[in-house]
Amino acid sequence: MQNKHIFSRALLFVSIITAFQTASAHRDLSAPRATATDPRYVLTDIELLRELGVEPLMTHEATGTVLARLNAKEREELADHAHDRLRCGGHEVLNISEKSGILGAKSVALNAFGELDRQLRRDEVFETKLANKVGIGLPSEPRIRDAEIEKAILEVSEANLKTTVDFLAAFPSRNHKNGDGQRAVLAFKTEIEKTLKDAILPYQIDLITHSNTPMNSIRLTIPGATNPGEIVVAGGHLDSINQSFFGAKKAPGADDNASGSANLLEVARILTKGKALARTVEIYWYAGEEGGLLGSAEIAANAKSAGKKVVGVLQLDMTLFPGDGEFKLGSMTDFTSLEMRELLKTINTEYIGATIIDDKCGYGCSDHASWYKNGYPTLMPFEATKKRMNSAIHTDKDVVSTTSSFRHSAMFSKIAIAFLSTLAK
Ligand code: BES
Ligand code: ZN
Repeated sequence: MQNKHIFSRALLFVSIITAFQTASAHRDLSAPRATATDPRYVLTDIELLRELGVEPLMTHEATGTVLARLNAKEREELADHAHDRLRCGGHEVLNISEKSGILGAKSVALNAFGELDRQLRRDEVFETKLANKVGIGLPSEPRIRDAEIEKAILEVSEANLKTTVDFLAAFPSRNHKNGDGQRAVLAFKTEIEKTLKDAILPYQIDLITHSNTPMNSIRLTIPGATNPGEIVVAGGHLDSINQSFFGAKKAPGADDNASGSANLLEVARILTKGKALARTVEIYWYAGEEGGLLGSAEIAANAKSAGKKVVGVLQLDMTLFPGDGEFKLGSMTDFTSLEMRELLKTINTEYIGATIIDDKCGYGCSDHASWYKNGYPTLMPFEATKKRMNSAIHTDKDVVSTTSSFRHSAMFSKIAIAFLSTLAK
């Protein structure tokens, strides 16, 4: 009787703790909480803003993107909300000075909304071309298999991917705010340099500083031999986050996103050992994605204002967990371009042989959204459908485990090689 009583007490205690943990899950305690100061104009998602109880200043109906003015505390709550639901839907802090005021903010938002409209229009035009089979010269056209690409794909090493994921996941965290992320950046830059020691093609590695995060992004440039002004981009975020309220603050981020980062390093190794490409290839390891696409937002906005000609952007974020089975992948259809998604299908038919399932993030869930909002064509193949994605992300449980598959992950390096080589040729 006594035992039973103790047992039910213990059970009650555990369930209270669990309820509390669930209710207040996903709080990043490794950094100080923000206060209700530092108001900024942000572009975010209508649903998330509704949850905050803040009125939008402007709304883009077709994509549910809104302009709002939020203080630091509200911005943090917004990111927490997005993460709490384990769905996409972060926010992008616009670099609008308070001095330029609401009119300045509105004109920036109007520009962004115009860009989104143009993106959707591009999809319509491409859809008509597809329907009428006016496909001459389109990158998504079925083509004869390229022997160079086939050879490069065969070089992808699962062992190399595991080494890199283990290396990155061994950091206590790669948090963009507290210096952990920057420590990982500097160490990873050295890894890139070591990995590229056998490179044949010329290349350059740069650290990119940001105004919204102390963490740097890393860029690898492989200049194009004949059309260096035309650029093909592949990227993924190097930072990680732990959002649990209790317990260890470790953020190994093996799947999210040491996996995509490792895929990109393997691609860099293989491409720099191959034949020169006509166009320039840029590979990015972005900073501060988990804080609201911070690094990529600056990089993509700068590319646009510099008039950079970027012909395609591939995002690799989470490739290690085959939730729908190995060789089944999701292709996110929001904040990505129909033409790029068709190119993925062609690449798959020619070189990969996987099953592609169209799916939606629901919001701008990763760095491809930054490029998309700046008018560039994007693509985001994903480890699984969103429903069956890795549920351990953003906790200390996002580690290499028996459910990880480097064979599955390797497929994403192969996709990236085919994507970059096809578009840069
Ligand atoms: N790896 C996730 C992206 C993701 C989440 C893709 C769910 C597909 C499904 C990414 O690192 C992330 O956590 N993104 C945030 C949004 C970001 C803007 C703060 C998210 O989804 O909550
Ligand atoms: Zn994440």
